Amino acid sequence: MGFIEARDLRKIYTPKGAEPVHALDGLDLDVPEGTITAILGPNGAGKTTAVKVLTTLITPDSGTATIGGVNVLNRPEAIRPIIGVSGQYAAVDENLTGFENLDMVGRLYHLGARASRARARELIDLFELSEAQNRPVKGFSGGMRRRIDLAGALVTRPRVLFLDEPTTGLDPRSRLGMWDIIRSLVDGGTTVLLTTQYLEEADQLADDISVIDTGKVIAKGTADELKASVGGQRVELNLVTAENAAETVEIMRRLGTAEPAVSNDSRTVTVSVESGPEALRVVLAELSERNIALFDAGMRRPTLDDVFLRLTGHVATDESDDTTETASGRTRARKTT
Ligand SMILES: Nc1ncnc2c1ncn2[C@@H]1O[C@H](COP(=O)(O)OP(=O)(O)O)[C@@H](O)[C@H]1O
Ligand SMILES: [Mg+2]
Repeated sequence: MGFIEARDLRKIYTPKGAEPVHALDGLDLDVPEGTITAILGPNGAGKTTAVKVLTTLITPDSGTATIGGVNVLNRPEAIRPIIGVSGQYAAVDENLTGFENLDMVGRLYHLGARASRARARELIDLFELSEAQNRPVKGFSGGMRRRIDLAGALVTRPRVLFLDEPTTGLDPRSRLGMWDIIRSLVDGGTTVLLTTQYLEEADQLADDISVIDTGKVIAKGTADELKASVGGQRVELNLVTAENAAETVEIMRRLGTAEPAVSNDSRTVTVSVESGPEALRVVLAELSERNIALFDAGMRRPTLDDVFLRLTGHVATDESDDTTETASGRTRARKTT
């Protein structure tokens, strides 16, 4: 049983003059106390809708949700004091300074002037925002905004924290900083439900991952369990010239257990194989015979990208990007749908 528990949540939006959208289509979730669960899914999968239901901002058409045994749908007033939420778009007052934003949250929660200021100072330190505390938020970078927004969610020391895409749009360095903060919160005993479209983020942070698509969970488990469910190994080749891609694909097709995948720039070819070492040996011999030059060749266990591709038939990627450099430096194939 989870500390956060959702059963069969359903929510249909019916925009004027358009087809109804099943934003939640029977969503189940279980988040054990003191752990971090990631809801992993592409744009439009229903992540924000799920967070809104669990944080009492909207009511679902049907289904149930509890946090710590308290019914979220019937007793929102009992839920709000124990949760914190940091939304996909930072909710901060542009004209106030970083410090004033945090102080304001404390006042809104009736902490009192002295306690509000003390908590704001504590969070400014924790989030390393001291050089920005006296500047209006208007001038903050995206990463600083997200940090102030998250700090705001922590003013009341909630036991449960909802983070909706906490690192979307952040540069890699700010993302790593945010990951450290989230880890330290969980180490301190906070229960976290976070949503993300980044497979490596779920891989790095989450004890458990629920992969969702079109409003329902399509797979769940630890990162290792999900990777194991895809099975086998991957052989990946980086070609010197894109002209060799077709010939390379042909060779790899014979060795693979599935159709080889080619990156956007036709320079990276990947295929699933039963045995990585054996397949790599054969493919290197054949390429050498045909004078096909490589920058790099390797084998690897499946990643969460592979899991997502297998489950949904498309790559999980931010739709605004064409190619995405992942944290590990690999180039991800273009979304094909
Ligand atoms: N207020 C709304 N009115 C109409 N459709 C909505 C509304 N909110 C979300 N949707 C639709 O519901 C689906 C799920 O949206 P959302 O939960 O925001 O997904 P995600 O956060 O995973 O990107 C999308 O197809 C979205 O367009
Ligand atoms: Mg969203």
